[in-house]
Amino acid sequence: MKSVRAFAPGTVANLGPGFDVLGLAVTGVGDAVIAERGSDGEIRIRSSGHPEIPSEAERNSAGIAAARVRERAGKADVGFTLRVEKGLPLSGGQGGSAASAVAAAVAVNELLGSPFGKDELLPPCLEAETAVAGRHADNVAAALFGGVVLVRSLEPLDVVRLPFPRDLRIVLVQPRQRLRTEDARARLPRTVDLGIAVAQAAGVGALVAALAARDYDLLRRSVDDRIAEPARAPLLPGFAEAKSAALSAGALGCSISGSGPSSFAFAADEDSARRIGEAMVAAYRARGIEASARTGAIDGKGARIDGVEE
Ligand code: HSE
Repeated sequence: MKSVRAFAPGTVANLGPGFDVLGLAVTGVGDAVIAERGSDGEIRIRSSGHPEIPSEAERNSAGIAAARVRERAGKADVGFTLRVEKGLPLSGGQGGSAASAVAAAVAVNELLGSPFGKDELLPPCLEAETAVAGRHADNVAAALFGGVVLVRSLEPLDVVRLPFPRDLRIVLVQPRQRLRTEDARARLPRTVDLGIAVAQAAGVGALVAALAARDYDLLRRSVDDRIAEPARAPLLPGFAEAKSAALSAGALGCSISGSGPSSFAFAADEDSARRIGEAMVAAYRARGIEASARTGAIDGKGARIDGVEE
């Protein structure tokens, strides 16, 4: 095998109340990594996909994931050259660092003769995400497995794949802003009031039940984040107005996508998703913030090989 191209979809983490525990993959845009075996034992990033993304392998999520997969396979002497194609925005809240890590892990695993299944690729991806964006598995797990995931525990790593409705639409709106995950995480409260913790736990349970039963009335009542959203919304001009526009346009819930700045909404069908996206973009623009929207379904496949050159 000369080279392998792997694709990993963009993801929405948290889904409202599920801070660090819920995530889903969205059809459409993602990151891809093209991996080739190197002539020496080094891991090199030939292209990081963006001038602001480091091309030193040990500072790049794709490079770190590739190194961890190689270590796990006991092939520390095998080198790789990686080219990252960034479809996802930088510091956008759509799981870009996770998608690059996951695509690299999947591509390198294939080049090594597929010693690992997806479950075994998750820890290397989490290590890469931890190094560049803080320790959270909601984006990497969703990008790797696809669908909707619940991170039950990080230690030991335990991820549950959840049932979800195939017709649910996701609206993702990207305002022209950037927010580094690290900075958004620094804003979070260190402790939470018991009443808030109880409401948040109830929200996560209700959201999981709503997705499993395709109960959109319950979904609407479940997307209620009392921890991360109130702490982060002040960093995100236009978000409050966009959320209110989304709900007025019929969204089945709206919140920050991951750590932001993107926001997401759930919609019952494609027409309503488009209307909600337009309403959200108009609300950002009314605050003087350029924004763009895309709509998609939940990507049930997750990361995949989409090209092999022999
Ligand atoms: N759960 C993470 C956070 C996702 O909210 O910080 C980051 O994309």
